[in-house]
Amino acid sequence: MRNPSVPSPLGAEYNPLVSPHLEDPHPFYARARREEPVFYSPVLGAWVVTRYEDVSAVLAAPGRFSSVGSIDVGAEKLPPEVLQVLARGLPPLPSLVDNDPPAHTRFRGLVSKAFNARRVAEKAPLVRTLAEELVDGFVSEGRADLFTRFAHPLPARVIAGIFGIPYEDIPLFQRWSDDLSAVFAAHGSVESLVRCAHGVLDFQRYLSEALDARTTSPRDDLLTDVVTAARELDVPASRAELVGMLTQTLFAGHETTAGLIAGAMELLLRNPEALGALQADPGLLPGIFEEAARMTSPVTAMFRTTTEEVELGGVSIPKGAHVRLVFASANRDASRFPEPDRFDPRRDTSRRHLAFGQGIHFCIGAQLARLETGIAVDVLTRRLPNLRLIPSPDPRMLRSVTIRRLGRLEVEWG
Ligand code: HEM
Repeated sequence: MRNPSVPSPLGAEYNPLVSPHLEDPHPFYARARREEPVFYSPVLGAWVVTRYEDVSAVLAAPGRFSSVGSIDVGAEKLPPEVLQVLARGLPPLPSLVDNDPPAHTRFRGLVSKAFNARRVAEKAPLVRTLAEELVDGFVSEGRADLFTRFAHPLPARVIAGIFGIPYEDIPLFQRWSDDLSAVFAAHGSVESLVRCAHGVLDFQRYLSEALDARTTSPRDDLLTDVVTAARELDVPASRAELVGMLTQTLFAGHETTAGLIAGAMELLLRNPEALGALQADPGLLPGIFEEAARMTSPVTAMFRTTTEEVELGGVSIPKGAHVRLVFASANRDASRFPEPDRFDPRRDTSRRHLAFGQGIHFCIGAQLARLETGIAVDVLTRRLPNLRLIPSPDPRMLRSVTIRRLGRLEVEWG
């Protein structure tokens, strides 16, 4: 048994928000899986879990590993100036992804219907039209940043449409999502974190006003469905909880899928034989999706908090400790996925990856992500002939403790 109070060399080296971990964390995670699969990170104040078996075991035990606090490093890491700003907004109450049963079950019921297989399948024509329109906007230019021009706006438009939010407000919620990422990671100067905290308050105000508007004038959208369904709950949901749940869903509904579309395209362009095989056989698309989700793992990690003392990977973790589940690492564990760094769209999918989580918090939007990514890859590879990457010195990675995605993908075609 290792002594948990002594920081290890791996723990001292680890910081997912800075180079080289930010750009390519995989060599470090491979070392961690080999040398010290569960280690303590002083910078995050969390136990980092890197092997498939251990991550999967934690996901299967929500009673011993609470999801409260699952998306941030904890308020104690934020400077007092930032906490003062946040205190002027809604209280940070657990709602959906950061909650446990029975409350979690109630909140999940409020939004899950909107993302079931039937409702998602109905969106296919709209997603295709949006994808084609975005490509129309740059196809004549011969080169583009596919992230900014396509991968980011496509899921943002789709989720805005589902919520009933006008397209012209998309830049607002994209900016607020970045602000939220910075505050959740407690990363940056005090000045920039204070600015981001104001963005978080604007985000809350925006969604709260949208709920008020749907209460007085209902429409055919998710916000109205939530207002209506919340009235029928046995235990009433507070405004802070509803806004928290909607913030999480809006954020998850575009940042993650943007990362997957960009990541899938990058993988295909780096593996021309897979791209050629896809063009010859479109039936390969589901395999491309699963393999891109495994290798990209846009939700790179989530947190849990122990409700009792636990033993994990030979390490004793005290009650009340923050635990970081690194899905990106579990998904490259060679004991589960042979040759884990190889992009193989024909890989046996019965060995399920954890890119969408597992168990009671399994991703509500997995079907939607599959639909959007499939259509995106199909439209881009058909409309942009002889597509190739342009090396870019700065991929502008998002600095987040939960999401890992490119912020730029320069390509040319023709
Ligand atoms: C590539 C795209 C996506 C990835 C990789 C992804 C990944 C994940 C993961 C790993 C979880 C589990 C978190 C945990 O166990 O703590 C999750 C939960 C969730 N995802 Fe996604 N997601 C994606 C797309 C979406 C979309 C499009 C939506 C839109 C609705 C969405 C909404 C949610 C919600 C609401 C939860 C919380 C579910 C719960 O706590 O019961 N996700 N997602």
